[in-house]
Amino acid sequence: MITGKFPNLRLRRSRRYDWSRRLIEENNLSSNDFILPIFLIDGKNKKQKIQSMPGVFRYSLDKMNLVIDKALKKGIPMIALFPYTEKKKKNFLGTEAINENNLVCNAIQLIKKKYKNEIGIMCDVALDPYTSHGHDGLLKDGYILNDETIKILIDQSLLQAQMGCDVLAPSDMMDGRIGEIRKSLDKNGFKMTQILSYAVKYASNFYGPFRDAVGSKRLLKGNKKTYQMDYKNSDESLREVALDIKEGADMIMVKPGLPYLDIIKLVKENFRLPVIAYQVSGEYSLLTNGVYKGIVNKNIVLESLIALKRAGANAIVSYYADRLDQIIK
Ligand code: PBG
Repeated sequence: MITGKFPNLRLRRSRRYDWSRRLIEENNLSSNDFILPIFLIDGKNKKQKIQSMPGVFRYSLDKMNLVIDKALKKGIPMIALFPYTEKKKKNFLGTEAINENNLVCNAIQLIKKKYKNEIGIMCDVALDPYTSHGHDGLLKDGYILNDETIKILIDQSLLQAQMGCDVLAPSDMMDGRIGEIRKSLDKNGFKMTQILSYAVKYASNFYGPFRDAVGSKRLLKGNKKTYQMDYKNSDESLREVALDIKEGADMIMVKPGLPYLDIIKLVKENFRLPVIAYQVSGEYSLLTNGVYKGIVNKNIVLESLIALKRAGANAIVSYYADRLDQIIK
């Protein structure tokens, strides 16, 4: 590839000036590259701090406009809704997931009414905010049941689609759920509802602060290793993605982000489909707590985000997305 021979070729020539560096730059970020997660909480007039995620808040429905307006103004294409569920609403089967009056359903309706189709709404499909044991599916004898869980995930999907959710994001990692959800959506008149599959979701240690944010951390019994992927594996990610494409996924999520750049690249190069990277809560907390004299190093955040793009991500789910003007110059 290198055709010149020293000193004919000096790569530093093109690095000399800012204009020249900009001219040959291969990757960059714009607000179009972001999905903003929003944590929701019951009650009124709440903008509640999350201890494990400095700078991120839980909003009550009457306050969520604060952050949605910001996202809209910056041109962020989509928000992702996550509910903090009070303990008294959780049970063994996670039935609050299919309560048409739950926090997420109410939020979707309010947002659609106010913002129409100016911004996309994405919702998790999984039971973990609602189960008393903190798992994403139905628990029996210490094991998460697959096919039985899918049945309730279908109901959750249909309900969220009916409320106006644009993009369903199954994050549960049950086998075969994308195909079953797609089939039910089509059968029930939701042909245009998109599916962003968390196809490659690792059983990661980086999710701790999120579980705190949605109130499932202390409840979680054991770990999620019988359904989420083993982080020692990469070939397996290709099998997961191949299946979900066949089952009808529109987009694929790789999660977490920064420790999995190799996986993002692998999936992108093999399948050439929209790949979304999730910069998860543990990454956020690490970067945010890496402060110098109380100042978050914005350049470190920027570098981490561009690394995800460089690896092949089309977009990034990031808790920094509501503060992009501080990060992207
Ligand atoms: C649950 C879900 C998790 C995240 C998004 N959806 C946590 C988990 O699987 O335990 C993690 C997000 C983050 O850490 O930022 N289905």
